[in-house]
Amino acid sequence: MRLLFLGDIVGKTARTSLAENLSNIKKKLSIEFVLVNAENATSGVGLSATHAKLLFDAGVNCISLGDHAFDQNEMINFAERENRIIRPINYAKSAPGSGFRIFNLGVKKILILQVLGQVFMKKPFSDPFEAIETYLKKYTLNSNVDAIIIDFHAEATSEKNALALHLDGRVSVIAGTHTHIPTADTRILPNGTAYQTDLGMCGDYLSVIGMEKTEPIRRFITGMSKERFRPADGEATLSGIIVDINDNGLANKVSPFRYKGHLNQIGME
Ligand SMILES: [Fe+2]
Ligand SMILES: [Fe+2]
Repeated sequence: MRLLFLGDIVGKTARTSLAENLSNIKKKLSIEFVLVNAENATSGVGLSATHAKLLFDAGVNCISLGDHAFDQNEMINFAERENRIIRPINYAKSAPGSGFRIFNLGVKKILILQVLGQVFMKKPFSDPFEAIETYLKKYTLNSNVDAIIIDFHAEATSEKNALALHLDGRVSVIAGTHTHIPTADTRILPNGTAYQTDLGMCGDYLSVIGMEKTEPIRRFITGMSKERFRPADGEATLSGIIVDINDNGLANKVSPFRYKGHLNQIGME
C-alpha cells in the first residue's frame, strides 16, 4: 500500500495547489491513500467545512487537525458529522469528533490516529505515550489492522524522536506535524516503522512558517504586534512523505516528497 502523508496545509495557496495537483500526483506516483494535516487551512487557523470538502473532493482520504482543531467554530459540529476528519486523541475529553478512525482500502484496514505532544505546547495536553498505548492494546498489526499511521502533532524534536523509537515495529508510520518545517531524517527505524520528525507544511516557504513575513519579523524586532498574522500567498510547496507499507504492516520504503514552490523539488522527477 502506498501512502502520501502531507504536513500542515497553510492558507489558500496550499489549498489551491492541492486542488490543482493532487490527482496528477496520485496518478503519477501510484498513491493509494492520502492523509493530510489541515489544521491551518482556513486563514491559517483551523479548518472550515467548505475547505474540508474541497480537500476531500481533491482526492484526500483523511484529514488530521491539531492544536488548532477547533479554531473555526463550525468544526465543532462538522467534526461530529464528517468521520474522515480526526482531531488529537488527547485533546480535551469533551472535544467533539474522534482522534482515530479505521479506513477500508480494499480488504485492508488502516488505522489513522493523531496525538498531541506536551513539550513547548501552549496548552497542557495529556500524556501522548499513555494515550497511544490505550489504542495499541486494542489494535495490533497482523491481527485486527493492516496498517497503523500516526500523526504526532508536537513541537519538540526530542519528544517526537522518543515516541517514534518507543513505537518502532508496532506502527507502520509515525510522522510529525505542527512545526511547519520539514526535517531531513526520513528513514525506516530498525524494527520497520517509517519516520520523519516533521513533514513540514504545505504552504509558501518565503514566509515565517506560512505567515506573511512582515508582521512576524516586526514582532521579533520590536516585541509589539501591529496587525494580525495572515497566511503568505506565494506559490505553495506541498511537503510530506511517501511510504510503501508491506503485507506485515511495516515500511518497505519511505521517501521525502516536496512539490513546487520555493523549496527544492523531491519525489516527482
Ligand atoms: Fe499545530
Ligand atoms: Fe500547523
